[in-house]
Amino acid sequence: MFEISLVQLSAIFLIILLIIKRPRVAENEPPLVPYTIPIIGHTFSYFFNAKKFIKECREEYGDAFSIYVFGNIMTVLSNEAVSEMFRNHDDFDFIKAIHEDIPLHKFLIYNGGMTEEGNIFNAKTAREQFSGKLDINMPVVQKYLEIGMNKMLGDCSVPKTIYNAWFTINEIIALPVTNILVGEEAAAHDDIVKSFGILAFDMGHLLVIPPIFCFIHQKLHDFVATLPIRFGYNPVRYHRRIAMKRLRPVVEKRLRERKKLGDNYKSYNDLLDFYMDQPNFDYSKPYNFHYHVDNLFIMVFASIHTTSRTAAVALYDMAARPELVEELYEEAVKVDKERNGQLTVADVKKMIKLDSFVKETLRHNDNITALPHYVKPESFTFSSGLTIPKGRKIITYIEDVLMSKENYGEDAEEFKPFRFVDQDSPATKVERSYIIFGGGRHACPGRFFAINETKLFLHKFILRYKVTTQSGKVEDKFRIGPFALPSRKALVFENRV
Ligand SMILES: *[C@@H]1O[C@H](CO)[C@@H](O)[C@H](O)[C@H]1NC(C)=O
Ligand SMILES: *[C@@H]1O[C@H](CO)[C@@H](O)[C@H](O)[C@H]1NC(C)=O
Repeated sequence: MFEISLVQLSAIFLIILLIIKRPRVAENEPPLVPYTIPIIGHTFSYFFNAKKFIKECREEYGDAFSIYVFGNIMTVLSNEAVSEMFRNHDDFDFIKAIHEDIPLHKFLIYNGGMTEEGNIFNAKTAREQFSGKLDINMPVVQKYLEIGMNKMLGDCSVPKTIYNAWFTINEIIALPVTNILVGEEAAAHDDIVKSFGILAFDMGHLLVIPPIFCFIHQKLHDFVATLPIRFGYNPVRYHRRIAMKRLRPVVEKRLRERKKLGDNYKSYNDLLDFYMDQPNFDYSKPYNFHYHVDNLFIMVFASIHTTSRTAAVALYDMAARPELVEELYEEAVKVDKERNGQLTVADVKKMIKLDSFVKETLRHNDNITALPHYVKPESFTFSSGLTIPKGRKIITYIEDVLMSKENYGEDAEEFKPFRFVDQDSPATKVERSYIIFGGGRHACPGRFFAINETKLFLHKFILRYKVTTQSGKVEDKFRIGPFALPSRKALVFENRV
């Protein structure tokens, strides 16, 4: 009772404050799109009608304009302004924007969540240990993809209908990824695989609290959104307990091996061994292992559900296009025959039709806006002369960039799965018009792993199954305001032979 009246009181107080203090932008800033209702501003248009609303703003105001949503001014960037942001990425802070959506710094209490310093280490880990070791890990990845598929889809001689296929695919992908994260011994336990699989979903639950309180004030929203944490709720605690239980025996065993064998110790190709190699790894120190497990959680967070989301969206895209599937099947059979079912990284690269299809799927991810950042230095000035002040939130109009006619031609908005075949334009290639993985020097270093993994999953899948949408038509994605997630509609799976 008391909590609620306190919230109400602060609400009234803040409303009064805000009425007095209407948002203003300086003269040399991108224009603030006019609005009629105070406080609410563009919130409804942005949340319920983003596609049309942002498009109209863009037509009227160009590459950079500001809107007033959830009680804050947010600057929306497109085309040239986006490229300029990525070229000057050090002037922008994306960690703050991530923490605002998912307070990793409150969940990962031993490594502080994402930090600038930690991020350099995590990027290096993704580049060298994930993408870099894929060659040696290929047999493990393929073995567990097949085991996962057997377990989750199995025999579909009688067609199987699955709603919300993302979760099923996520459980399949979690198996190979957990194996290369912590090694086969620990990953043999179902509980850790399940836990890694749902970690990102569990942390994301808070996201679902729509930022209604932001109407009033960002601070009030933060207060409400973090109430569960204040009362001691931390979704990571449960996952940490499982990870500790399964990883400690393996680490202790490896420490004994290291001691006994010395230089003859044969490294394991997993992330766990990599963390044990770090100069700051000291198992005997209290909470030292907790710190490394938090780092591991960031990799789990960044790798599993993003990959499974891409794979899921690709399945929904395939499901209503049988001609496409037959062409992909032809390519898959050819590569599979040459290798007797054991593909190398080079073979994955060779599947150019599949690559083009995955890229087109990513291009059609249907997010209207994405990649929020905050302006770091005193202010940032674009070459056009427009300035945005320190602390301003920016977001890219990603749909406009990915559907640009200038870069993709007149048919840019069409779904053409083989548009990138023979274009020397692999799904991992970061370009000004392809910002799925961000841009510039800081583009997502895990993208090589993610694309390889997605392609391998689809490859094994196509060889074994056929998939259709239950409705027979292309399903729309599941929308939350300007963002899109895989459809939750039914897919029907059937054995190919
Ligand atoms: C797969 O990963 C390797 C190694 O990181 C990379 O060189 C290659 O481009 C990736 N292949 C694809 C199709 O992304
Ligand atoms: C779409 O937006 C969601 C929500 O911000 C984000 O998690 C996701 O990464 C975006 N998808 C792509 C493909 O950029």
